[in-house]
Amino acid sequence: MHDATLAPVICLDGPSGAGKGTVGRMLAQRLGWHFLDSGALYRLVAVAGGKRRLDLDRPDALAGLAHGLDCAFGWDARGRERILLDGRDVTAEVRAETTGAAASRVARHPEVRAALLARQRAERRFPGLVADGRDMGTVVFPDAPLKIFLTASADERARRRHKQLMEHGISASIPDLIQEIEARDRQDRERAVSPLVADADALTVDSTGQAPSELCAFIVELAGRRGLF
Ligand code: DC
Repeated sequence: MHDATLAPVICLDGPSGAGKGTVGRMLAQRLGWHFLDSGALYRLVAVAGGKRRLDLDRPDALAGLAHGLDCAFGWDARGRERILLDGRDVTAEVRAETTGAAASRVARHPEVRAALLARQRAERRFPGLVADGRDMGTVVFPDAPLKIFLTASADERARRRHKQLMEHGISASIPDLIQEIEARDRQDRERAVSPLVADADALTVDSTGQAPSELCAFIVELAGRRGLF
């Protein structure tokens, strides 16, 4: 049974493009819960490191940056996501495909991961949190009462990523995206610390061919059955 003195967390882990962001945001909205986009934090460290011309393979300065990251998340008047770094709008840079690959590189360093841990855990607030990432269930919220590991075929993930990038006004080719997605998966799965892996108590859900609203309804039902709201 879920410990009612702690805010409930639903972990949504899985490879990039599996639909975690879309489903997670929908779920958070539906439940009126907070939402943690942990990938955006790694992306912001990569962007901040790039601006300071830091070597993304050297952890010390990156960990310092991660620790002091001055960022904010919100929406503009048209309901589009806006991400600020040191008070400046960096949304397009954060969402760029090249930043995804750079984030995967900075995310290999245990020092960077440790520096972001407290910030992520601080998002666990009532009435609850939907946490999107790679290690939400294994490392950040190991006691979470509901853990979902969302997967989808590489083709489908590339198509979804393409649509998202187009919405941000960024062009890309699907075959290139498939290659990038597979390379990033490999790097995320094979890293020594907090690799992308389903936690032992996670439920693996294949989102191929499923609408986000269906997945969201399915997870809401599971959460309800576990007494999370
Ligand atoms: O979810 P995303 O595409 O925004 O994540 C970008 C990269 O950040 C991803 O390739 C690996 C890393 N990441 C991570 O290591 N741990 C997380 N919890 C979230 C993202």
